[in-house]
Amino acid sequence: MNRNIVCIGAGYIGGPTMAVIAKMNPDRKVMVVDINAERIAAWNSEDYSLPIYEPGLVDVVKEVRGRNLFFSTDIEGAVKECDIIFVGVNTPTKMFGRGAGRASDLQYWEATAREIKRFAECDKIVVEKSTLPVRTAAAMEAILNGGRGEGEEGTKGSGIQFTVLSNPEFLAEGTAIKDLLEPDRVLIGGPQTDAGAKAIQAVVDIYATWVPRERILTTNVWSAELTKLAANAFLAQRVSSINAIAGLCEATGADVDEVARVIGADGRIGPKFLKAGPGFGGSCFKKDVLNLVYLCESFGLHTAAEYWMGVIRMNQHQQERIVSRLFAAMFNTLANKKIALFGFAFKADTGDTRETPAGTVARLLAEEHVRVTITDPKALVNARRDLADLSDVTYEEDEYKAAEGADAIILMTDWRHYPTLDWNRIYDSMRKPALVFDTRNCLAAAELRKIGFRVLNVGK
Ligand code: UDX
Ligand code: UDX
Repeated sequence: MNRNIVCIGAGYIGGPTMAVIAKMNPDRKVMVVDINAERIAAWNSEDYSLPIYEPGLVDVVKEVRGRNLFFSTDIEGAVKECDIIFVGVNTPTKMFGRGAGRASDLQYWEATAREIKRFAECDKIVVEKSTLPVRTAAAMEAILNGGRGEGEEGTKGSGIQFTVLSNPEFLAEGTAIKDLLEPDRVLIGGPQTDAGAKAIQAVVDIYATWVPRERILTTNVWSAELTKLAANAFLAQRVSSINAIAGLCEATGADVDEVARVIGADGRIGPKFLKAGPGFGGSCFKKDVLNLVYLCESFGLHTAAEYWMGVIRMNQHQQERIVSRLFAAMFNTLANKKIALFGFAFKADTGDTRETPAGTVARLLAEEHVRVTITDPKALVNARRDLADLSDVTYEEDEYKAAEGADAIILMTDWRHYPTLDWNRIYDSMRKPALVFDTRNCLAAAELRKIGFRVLNVGK
């Protein structure tokens, strides 16, 4: 067995993770392959216009690309050359048939497993990086180690052994490189067999070059698969919990940031992930909680399923509430008014717009015939694609131009430079009364009021 590594799937997970693995393992060849040739070309672009934006990523890619990190579309060649195969292809929520709207669509994963099987010429360790329903590894093991179908060469009898491990990724976008370099923990789940133990050790060795050994946790495969879903569900639940309190704060005159600060001072709870806002977005939280709901339902755990479903419902409600409050504050009519969305990415420091609360808010505003203008330093390309079906939306790189003639600004993403903009200049260019709805509570509200703005916040 050789030490070469390939990752199938050059996305938000595969790209940064393999870049860091290559950096920290200069003696290993690391390959990243993808069926999307355009994406691979971007990873290979001479001017480093990489397909995703992530702070610090370009520097790592500059250091390792062409040294021991290679991007390509040659899946066959890579599978033949590498004995450790990570799979980071997308597993979106299934939109058809059984489990529609909840279960994961595993068709890409399964197709990838079949390709690995077709091209493999010797034993392979297959590592799940994608978040998957519990027990997927068992299904993959069955596909990989079962006899091949008609017209395929058989593995049975050929002596090729596939061992499937789960190594879920906990990195958050915007801090991916830091999270990869200094992880709280690395989780590797594998079968409790001799082959499993050897495979686990092979993957431990990759991380142990920079992660302290006590932070590399090993479990059985199912615990690892479930841990990823549960960890994301717990994080999502904290966001929904604080947002549920935010509504109460608005109704009672309490201040959610004060409440969160004091709740978080309890060592048992801790201060992180207690920021009220427009609700969570991103590719993982909603999908993973829905996955958990589906799993609970399939095992007859209906009360648990409903409990987790509440986390999603609360999140959707938060965006509806933002538009309702704006509606009331703007004299119960939004038609023909101009509203500028400041920020479209689901959080700061990323261009990613998957499940972004700003998308939901933009659509709710469009239903009210609002003239929506969107500005974002990194996410305008994705915003244009996401909202291509909406005709009355414009896109503006420059925040000052976006605000010109607007009746209101809704700050959706907490980009660091927003508080430092010239808010006097913005105020002067807007229609009066000018309103700012700061859904991230990151602007100095008192200052804005002094300028003349009407200000709305979440949870205040
Ligand atoms: C994805 C999922 O979104 C996440 O939930 C899961 O945990 C891991 O996989 P991400 O890297 O963010 O994470 O996805 P994405 O950026 O969509 O990248 C997936 C890549 O896989 C795409 O570039 C796609 O072209 C590629 N792919 C997909 C293949 O190479 N082969 C396939 O058969 C399908
Ligand atoms: C998340 C998990 O953190 C990560 O471990 C997992 O691997 C993938 O999913 P990510 O989606 O990239 O990462 O971002 P995260 O920082 O967790 O934020 C998720 C969403 O919650 C964002 O929309 C963010 O704005 C929101 N959020 C987060 C809040 O509204 N309040 C908070 O206090 C924290």
